Amino acid sequence: MDNSKIKRYTVTAALPYTNGPVHIGHLAGVYLPADTYVRYLRSNKREVKFICGSDENGVPITLKAKKEGVTPQEIVDRYHKIIGDSFREFGISFDIYHRTSSLTHHQTAEDFFEKLYNDGVFTEEITEQYYDEKAQTFLADRYITGTCPKCGNENAYGDQCESCGSTLNATDLINPKSTLSGEPPVRKETKNWFLPLDQYEDKLRAYIESHKEWKPNVYGQCQSWLNAGLQPRAMTRDLDWGVKVPVKGAEGKVLYVWFDAPIGYISATKELSNYGKMGIWNPIAEEYYINQINTTSFDWEDYWKDEETKLVHFIGKDNIVFHCIIFPAMLMAHGGYTLADNVPANEFLNLEGQKISTSKNWAVWLNEYLEEFKDKQDILRYVLTATAPETKDNDFTWKDFQARNNNELVAILGNFVNRVTVLTHKYFDGKVPTLMELTDVDKAVIEELQGYPAKISSSIENYRFREALAEVMNVARLGNKYLAETEPWKVIKTDEDRVRTILNIALQIAANIEILIEPFLPFTADKLMKMLNYGGHIWEDAGSIHLLKRGHQLNEPVLLFSKIEDEEVQAQIDKLNRSKLANETNAVVSPVKENIQFEQFGAMDIRVATIVAAEKVEKTKKLLKLTLDTGLDERTVVSGIAEYYKPEDIIGQQVSLLVNLAPREIKGIVSQGMILMAEDSEGKLSFVSPVQKTNNGAVIR
Ligand code: MF3
Ligand code: ZN
Repeated sequence: MDNSKIKRYTVTAALPYTNGPVHIGHLAGVYLPADTYVRYLRSNKREVKFICGSDENGVPITLKAKKEGVTPQEIVDRYHKIIGDSFREFGISFDIYHRTSSLTHHQTAEDFFEKLYNDGVFTEEITEQYYDEKAQTFLADRYITGTCPKCGNENAYGDQCESCGSTLNATDLINPKSTLSGEPPVRKETKNWFLPLDQYEDKLRAYIESHKEWKPNVYGQCQSWLNAGLQPRAMTRDLDWGVKVPVKGAEGKVLYVWFDAPIGYISATKELSNYGKMGIWNPIAEEYYINQINTTSFDWEDYWKDEETKLVHFIGKDNIVFHCIIFPAMLMAHGGYTLADNVPANEFLNLEGQKISTSKNWAVWLNEYLEEFKDKQDILRYVLTATAPETKDNDFTWKDFQARNNNELVAILGNFVNRVTVLTHKYFDGKVPTLMELTDVDKAVIEELQGYPAKISSSIENYRFREALAEVMNVARLGNKYLAETEPWKVIKTDEDRVRTILNIALQIAANIEILIEPFLPFTADKLMKMLNYGGHIWEDAGSIHLLKRGHQLNEPVLLFSKIEDEEVQAQIDKLNRSKLANETNAVVSPVKENIQFEQFGAMDIRVATIVAAEKVEKTKKLLKLTLDTGLDERTVVSGIAEYYKPEDIIGQQVSLLVNLAPREIKGIVSQGMILMAEDSEGKLSFVSPVQKTNNGAVIR
């Protein structure tokens, strides 16, 4: 969109599912770029509404509720609060953080559906769906588990196999089972309403192709969907949690979560405009927070139905089809709405070389970060923007977090600001000294400085936030270089006037940094603003070297950043490894056997023994013939461990041996006893050995 035609902006950030807290992957992919963009627009005095909220419908939420034995409402209330609070504390400056369980949303989504229904947009189709006869309910794909047809994993979900990563349909599963009753589901006919996406194909293609400027990953995904041919898609589901389908004959059905969720952007905007009109908090406002600055009255339709409004959706890459194909088709079918001007979706962020996984607890959770790193929001903001997965997947590591803090924030940005403010206090009582005669060095620095705002603007407006942030850091580098070249701490001994000029220019650079860094590091900008005792945050002032007037009094300097020590990041790495271990040790555990009496246990004679000889049993894959010193005797045991242990590696190993098991003949060898082994969920065996060496024959009980 041509900048001069833009009257206002609607910026949305994907509504997070309320089945868990948000993690660094969400932040780097969606919320930080969105917040940076919006702060930049506000600094440019553009009209903007920044919209987000909780996505509280959908199967993941009911599943989580089921797992915990609580209601879905309890789950969404819990996470709506955790997520909303942590966003706010992290400085994500939404104008509203709404929720799709709200009345406004239910009404808006129902009205939207009804309009499409009345206009005859939907096709009705009867399909066969899995049904749980015992629980008397249709089953969403996620509620069915069975064997993956691709890899044989017995615990695959109806929509996806987490073992091999394939996307599945519930009907693909071998031996499907309902997770509700454990029974095999039956197929049953049901009627649902479909959006005939195929009928919008030409219009969608024209829309997408008018946006060749979109990021290649987004544009490419859209093209491949269009080229594959669009199919009608069900917009209703047989479920009981969600927005009720507002038509006759649709009892027990709710709107497809991807139908109602993007409408959540619209209902949130409406809700925000209601606050504005009423000028008071909504009675249920306690459940939300909003940016009170923006509660002045406005008409929500201006933000959704006016050609002069620029709509931008910030999302992760798994959301592309919903925002670029399905939601636009819904808006086209409805009529009257404008379509997104851009959908800057990011790729994924990995953590310490591995995919972030909620179910495996392999993540850095925002709420935990905020607790453990008090008042250090901007470090995480900085690192996540500097390593944002804008064009390809990227990796977050704690070592990199530490290095970027210590070598960039502390050593470059913090150091520059600290030097210039401390020197000003030292030589001029904290008053901005007068700009005197300019040397060539000064002129060059000023010229370079003046080039930055336009460069940074252009990067931000083209959604290249990493690049923009790197340029802001270059302004701090420029400042450091300037001080190193001019050496005011030496010159002060001979030429005070020269130092006045140097520090004036350096202070102007610091004030520029305050403006330029605010969209990225708002907490740092605020600190800097206080230190410089100056209004700040106004983008059009950037580039000027007259931001701080002669004689202006600065406040006491404070450090913007401090070093992160090795122990702090090691603690985080340890924490990750612990949760990984907990996960592995929790993996698919077989159920407990029936109780026994102590006598039954006591009848077993288990001893520590040492392996003194080992060889493979010929013509077998699994068996080893072992000679054991039991302290009582030396005996032969045949053990099925050859796939896990090599004979030469286990000589001298102490193990636990059931010594009074009646001898058995295995492959012609008499085996006198049985070695105890731990078998993990994948069938891998390992010895059960005393942690400290002990004598052979020691009794285990
Ligand atoms: N809840 C979805 C997710 O986390 C995103 C929904 S975005 C919206 O992937 F457009 F539907 F709201
Ligand atoms: Zn599989």
